[in-house]
Amino acid sequence: MGLYRFSLPVAAAIMMINASLLVQGCLEEERTALLHIQTSIDGPNHTASPLLSWGNDARCCGWAGVSCDNITGRVNEIDLFNVRGWFIDPSKGDWYLNATLFLPFQELNTLNLGWNGIAGCVANEGFERLSRLNKLEYLNLVLNNFNNSVLSSLKGLSSLKHLSLDSNRLNGSIDTKDFDSLSKLEELYLSRNEIQNFVTSTGFNY
Ligand SMILES: *[C@@H]1O[C@H](CO)[C@@H](O)[C@H](O)[C@H]1NC(C)=O
Ligand SMILES: *[C@@H]1O[C@H](CO)[C@@H](O)[C@H](O)[C@H]1NC(C)=O
Ligand SMILES: *[C@@H]1O[C@H](CO)[C@@H](O)[C@H](O)[C@H]1NC(C)=O
Ligand SMILES: *[C@@H]1O[C@H](CO)[C@@H](O)[C@H](O)[C@H]1NC(C)=O
Ligand SMILES: *[C@@H]1O[C@H](CO)[C@@H](O)[C@H](O)[C@H]1NC(C)=O
Repeated sequence: MGLYRFSLPVAAAIMMINASLLVQGCLEEERTALLHIQTSIDGPNHTASPLLSWGNDARCCGWAGVSCDNITGRVNEIDLFNVRGWFIDPSKGDWYLNATLFLPFQELNTLNLGWNGIAGCVANEGFERLSRLNKLEYLNLVLNNFNNSVLSSLKGLSSLKHLSLDSNRLNGSIDTKDFDSLSKLEELYLSRNEIQNFVTSTGFNY
């Protein structure tokens, strides 16, 4: 019986943590952060349908697009693909993202922000703020309006394995040095942009 391997205080502590997660459904800090994200997308009246249910109950791990690690109970996936309905209704205009809103999710592995008409990040609140999220492996930014300046803001996300930037507004020359620090990157999608060539800052073309 595995239980005998735990000392009584450790087992009691584990049971208390599980009990508090069951009651609250998720960490208070993460639930609050999700509600801030909802407000930043929906405005105070919460009208965007995919996020309508957010906040109806306390168990944020069950909210649409949110998944949690089943051992730690912390949010590990946030899927906000097309939550603004921007593709259907482009009159909603550009969205300037405050990436700092995602900083509380210390175990975030997957973040999908695709198809939302994001034109860039709020000044000083770009992806560079997320370099502490060292479990972040999947970042999907497909079908937004990011320009070349997004690349330098992604440099600190050193745990990334998969980065999707297809169908954005990258153009001209892309410096491959921008990807040097992403040493774990396995997949990089850059199609449907207006990239002319890749260069390195040493001046070699290839
Ligand atoms: C939110 O709803 C209130 C009351 O219905 C309305 O007066 C206000 O203009 C709405 N705000 C936005 C940003 O849609
Ligand atoms: C926890 O999640 C993993 C995948 O994320 C799954 O394989 C595993 O069966 C889950 N464990 C329990 C106890 O639900
Ligand atoms: C961005 O979000 C963070 C975290 O919620 C907040 O502290 C900060 O004020 C926001 N920045 C702007 C410019 O709204
Ligand atoms: C690129 O996007 C940023 C916003 O993230 C903006 O401040 C800047 O003006 C844009 N650059 C160009 C050349 O459009
Ligand atoms: C890239 O696009 C921006 C506007 O988004 C424009 O100002 C700039 O001249 C373009 N650069 C190239 C090399 O096409």
